[in-house]
Amino acid sequence: MLEKYIPHFNKINYQDIFKESIATIKREGRYRVFSDISRIAGKFPVAFDHKRGKEIVLWCTNDYLGMGQFQAAINVSKEVSEKMGVGSGGTRNISGTHRNIIELENELADLHNKQAGLVFTSGYVSNDATISTLVKIMPGLVIFSDANNHASIIEGISRSKATKYVFRHNDVEHLEELISQVDIDIPKLIIFEAVYSMDGVIAPIKEICDIAEKYNAMTYIDEVHAVGMYGPKGGGISDLYNLTDRLTIIEGTLAKAFGTMGGYITGDRDLIDCIRCYAAGFIFTTSLPPNLSAAAATIIRHLKQSSLERDRLHFIVAEIKSKLSKAGISYMDNNSHIIPVLIKDPVLAKQVSEYLLDEFSIFIQHINYPTVPRGMERLRITATALHTEAQVDSLVKALQKTLVKFGVIKNEHSSI
Ligand SMILES: Cc1ncc(COP(=O)(O)O)c(C=O)c1O
Repeated sequence: MLEKYIPHFNKINYQDIFKESIATIKREGRYRVFSDISRIAGKFPVAFDHKRGKEIVLWCTNDYLGMGQFQAAINVSKEVSEKMGVGSGGTRNISGTHRNIIELENELADLHNKQAGLVFTSGYVSNDATISTLVKIMPGLVIFSDANNHASIIEGISRSKATKYVFRHNDVEHLEELISQVDIDIPKLIIFEAVYSMDGVIAPIKEICDIAEKYNAMTYIDEVHAVGMYGPKGGGISDLYNLTDRLTIIEGTLAKAFGTMGGYITGDRDLIDCIRCYAAGFIFTTSLPPNLSAAAATIIRHLKQSSLERDRLHFIVAEIKSKLSKAGISYMDNNSHIIPVLIKDPVLAKQVSEYLLDEFSIFIQHINYPTVPRGMERLRITATALHTEAQVDSLVKALQKTLVKFGVIKNEHSSI
């Protein structure tokens, strides 16, 4: 119809644009096909693979402590659903808040030794919303961001349009070189992660806090891949090294070691109140429902006084690392629970991952660009507290056979 009125109207072929975009990803070997799996309650980390019609063992879940299976959390989630229904009914501003989310926020504040906590619908949203809002509140805020920060942090910074300096990954000297050039009276924020999700490398938190104090900067730590698993209370690496007091904002997720879903920040009361009042990503979206909030609070409360699960996880991780070394399989070494095995080719990484599933019923998702840089494609092995030693042996044997078959490692060792 429009052509009638606009003589030189060229029809855009939207379908072709979408097709071409997909074709580009396919050409690069980056097209993502989800694994259609169902976890089996009581059997975790075993799941059912619907495509292959068989049970498989998960080695790429972020439910690191298996708390998604925690019976007390399942029970409370059922009880609360029976009592209050399954949704929250809206945003907290318009539809009211509920007791369970307030209790959850109190648990989180206590977990990180902070005055207050604020729950978001995901860790991604908590990073994106909080960082962009800090800049809204302080328009001159200058941000110093670790080069390996997560996409949610990068998105928050870029949406804020703040002046930003990216310091080399975990390079405290580079951070100091950059921050020392900015006027001491300009507000500053250093953003970094406790455990980097793809390499498993741990941040030099104390040294970063030293610099922050020297140059009067605030600090923002993402403890997403550490909460629940490190520290006497499960408060993450900052809890482990007793550094919570020196951090301005501690951010985390409920979706990994806390086995449920949602994200949060903790900090001083006024700061948290500011984010609550100004953050669009908090204000204009439906809140976490009571059943999920109650399940998460139950798990956090449990992990504050039980080290059993984290001890078991670290034991299994040590077993895997030692057995991989004996089998001649190298991995990116770090002091954390994340075990990356580099493949360095997107197509090969996919083939290896599929072969492991087809032949050995072992699921390790291959990780490609943009999650990791091109040429750094890998298998990211994540153990859980519920993996058995027999499952570890099967994993290492299968991996060795597969990596030899695809020419990633040379010869088979006989020491496993
Ligand atoms: C470092 C880091 N921060 C934040 C997130 C987002 O957390 P969520 O999965 O709760 O959205 C992730 C997700 O994997 C992450 O790796």
